[in-house]
Amino acid sequence: MRNWVLDGSLIVASCMKTGANSVPTWLEEALSQGHRFWVYVGQLQSTRTDLTRQLTESGADQPEATATSRLASFLSRCQWLAALAEDGDVLAEADLIGAQLRKAAARLDRDSGILTDDPQRIAQGKPFCTVARLQERSTSSDGIAFIDLASQQDRIRPALESALHRVLHHGRYIQGPEIEALEKRLADYVGVEHCVGVSSGTDALLIALMALGIGPGDEIITTAFSFAATAEVILLLGARPVYVDIDPVTFNIDASLIEEKINARTRAILPVGLYGQCPDFSAMRLIARQHGLALIEDAAQSFGATQDGVRSGNLGTIGATSFFPAKPLGAYGDAGACFTNDTDLMTRLREIRDHGQSQRYHHVRLGINARMASIQAAVLLQKLTVFDDELVMRQRAATCYQRFLEESADAMGIILPTVPPGNTSSWAQYTVQVGCRDQVQAALAQRGVPTAVHYPAPIPVQPAMLDSSGQYPVSARSAQCVLSLPMHPYLNSATQQRIAEHLIQVVKETIA
Ligand SMILES: Cc1ncc(COP(=O)(O)O)c(C=O)c1O
Repeated sequence: MRNWVLDGSLIVASCMKTGANSVPTWLEEALSQGHRFWVYVGQLQSTRTDLTRQLTESGADQPEATATSRLASFLSRCQWLAALAEDGDVLAEADLIGAQLRKAAARLDRDSGILTDDPQRIAQGKPFCTVARLQERSTSSDGIAFIDLASQQDRIRPALESALHRVLHHGRYIQGPEIEALEKRLADYVGVEHCVGVSSGTDALLIALMALGIGPGDEIITTAFSFAATAEVILLLGARPVYVDIDPVTFNIDASLIEEKINARTRAILPVGLYGQCPDFSAMRLIARQHGLALIEDAAQSFGATQDGVRSGNLGTIGATSFFPAKPLGAYGDAGACFTNDTDLMTRLREIRDHGQSQRYHHVRLGINARMASIQAAVLLQKLTVFDDELVMRQRAATCYQRFLEESADAMGIILPTVPPGNTSSWAQYTVQVGCRDQVQAALAQRGVPTAVHYPAPIPVQPAMLDSSGQYPVSARSAQCVLSLPMHPYLNSATQQRIAEHLIQVVKETIA
């Protein structure tokens, strides 16, 4: 069990026993074992009043100030749990606050409980529980998460909740004020003139192609190794994806193989910043200029990365990114964005995003509904406040893996990721290469280490995108050996050491 709501009387009892700037040992121990503690906002007033009264009765100096500072220390180790409107629906209950705590705890997850020292609540049994019982079962260590969105949410919860609440109350769920604010913020962040918020990364790519007028008969040069969406959007418009194999070091399109694929039908190059680092844009910009082609950057995984000091999203004619929840900058649902410095393209992108309308009910071109929901923009605006710090934390986690793995890597045949000079990575994934990948992955899963394969097959061999016109040996080989390890900003080095040790051990056993 990880989530515990703390009853106010237990907080009071704990604060009576602790001095200034300290928290009870049981709380520290349980936190170190991965438990999370929540304080119900609706109980704050009664908790402080009770603590002040007990301090007064015990003859403490300045009871009010003491109560406030002890509570502040205690609360700094906990999360706020909001009191919501449904919590008011308890008037018929004899134990009003007990009923509210139950409702609040039920919102967390099925395993959550309420820690209390109130004998009547303890007598009710689950979800109520005592500290002694928590300690009895606190021996198991926490599992490893592939991605940890909960820690990020803990970090920004108060601002996030009020941002979401504002959307509930202003009611402009589509194209609300958050969209314009986010577009401005993202354009500044990426360093472009214009940002157009859209409903997903796939729609960002689709409307980028539509804005460039791509259609039947056109050819778009793209990578053979990416998520399917990159090629899917080309085919959806009736154009033809022309695949190029990848560079074995970065997994990104091999720019030296592009020119041989250009012909009179070629309209654009659509490279991807796989796993978080950008492909060689200086080479591709030159080719695009020489042949009069557009350059569309699929920055779904590389948002936050840079190349030669320029941010991903601003490296081509149009940048398209995804804010899928697991991406480096993720919403709480689908969302995406297009970036451009071209005002004419920006107008087209905006119109296509909204059924081709230049103004309400005046449709100047064919478009789609690719609008971003205001609630997602509200989430993204809050997540942006910690995004730069999270990029630093991702880089720290990548460096940490490198440190734990590099000594054994060569002997074990494990190839670690490389970021060439000029690039920084957003570390959307930390992807190593190993032989017998599927066996290694299965053995790691048995040891409780979650991993993922991005991606098990090159795009041209996918049934829906079958294309036998070329050979893509590096993509084919990569699809056999890539393995993404857990990666997120909140990974701690002890967990990474465990993951690295498991990986080395498993590879040793597999090759033995
Ligand atoms: C490289 C790449 N392109 C496009 C997409 C599509 O983004 P979305 O899932 O937001 O539609 C993804 C998402 O995984 C991706 O990784």
